[in-house]
Amino acid sequence: MSSLLETKIAARQHALREQGLLRQRKVLSVEHALNTNASTSSPRFVFEGRAYVNFSSNDYLGLSRAPELVEALHLGAQTYGVGSGASPLVTGYSDAHLALERELCDLTGHEAALLFCSGFSANTALMKTLFDQHDIVVADKLVHASIIDGLQDSGAQLKRFLHNSLESAERLLARHQTSALITESVFSMDGDCAPISELSALCRQHHTWLIVDDAHGFAVLDGYNNADAAKLIDVQVVTFGKALGCQGAAVLGSQALIDFLVSNAREYIYSTALSPANAALALAATQYSTAHPELQQKLLENIALFKQLCREANVPLLGSDTAIQPLIIGDARQTLQVAEELRAAGIWVGAIRPPTVPVGSARLRITLTAAHAAEDIMACVAQLTQVLSRVVVPLVTERQAADDHR
Ligand SMILES: Cc1ncc(COP(=O)(O)O)c(C=O)c1O
Repeated sequence: MSSLLETKIAARQHALREQGLLRQRKVLSVEHALNTNASTSSPRFVFEGRAYVNFSSNDYLGLSRAPELVEALHLGAQTYGVGSGASPLVTGYSDAHLALERELCDLTGHEAALLFCSGFSANTALMKTLFDQHDIVVADKLVHASIIDGLQDSGAQLKRFLHNSLESAERLLARHQTSALITESVFSMDGDCAPISELSALCRQHHTWLIVDDAHGFAVLDGYNNADAAKLIDVQVVTFGKALGCQGAAVLGSQALIDFLVSNAREYIYSTALSPANAALALAATQYSTAHPELQQKLLENIALFKQLCREANVPLLGSDTAIQPLIIGDARQTLQVAEELRAAGIWVGAIRPPTVPVGSARLRITLTAAHAAEDIMACVAQLTQVLSRVVVPLVTERQAADDHR
């Protein structure tokens, strides 16, 4: 006889499979050993013996393979060893961590910073520690799962405003005595940007903190990754696993906030510190991205090329100006089929399905990076155009035909 949990697991997996929502990992490997040209050639990987151009990574500046950063990690490991060996309040906090925190503060104008091993734990720690059942928190409808999980754990009352709607946010702020308003700089699944200056003015007016998850904006988005950020944003969460190409995250804010988190954030206190080698790497990546503005320029050119080719081919994008370019297909199974057809042509794009995005808005999430070559972007759009006409139109027609028969 099966145990209760075996039965539950089997039933849930079966339901997900039926809905086309089962998630599975794919084992990828590198096409060739890292070499000095690796950061300038299109991002590729090998899956089951075949090479693919990667249009689904958040390595927006192509830094994950930059030889200088490979060297920085190597040097960090030689200097500090490969692990921190303890939680930060025991013996896991070093001068490598402090140097990174200081660099991030210099860059953004915030007083203090606290490092975490991931953006997910930075967000949950921040929410769980800062808020309790006495707080009312207002958040954009599309904020990341880590924020929602942290808020749920905190016991705070959560009010959601319509995505990027100042009117909707203002209505909530006027109605409730709110502790904080939370949004993202660049939304991870839609690629659009929050109106940070306007939200900041609104928060000032209502004496409410503005908290911004800057995971997809940091190091790529102009505007508040500079010394003015702290003037607009009370708490900024930056991650190192996206545009910086490495791993980890930081919460940036006032000294009082960071001291409070050091004393109270369980994810920080009871977890092995980010390795000093990774802190040294993130510092090198931060400095590298600042010293190489041409990478941001190249990314902008690649985004513009992709959008122009899609416009010419009538591929209906969502209208994002960032590296994240969603193409809504709607149906989860159809989205998977389009992604699979693209893979058959050597192009790998993300197929994003509920619950990551709302039901009925399954989409391809195509991401551009500074490392993509123009030919690969052209090939991507050409294949996309063909696949959409071959797969989506016939399937839609089939569905309509079925509807007509009812
Ligand atoms: C908006 C946003 N915030 C936070 C995170 C979590 O960051 P990390 O990948 O470093 O855990 C992600 C990653 O998917 C994200 O998209």
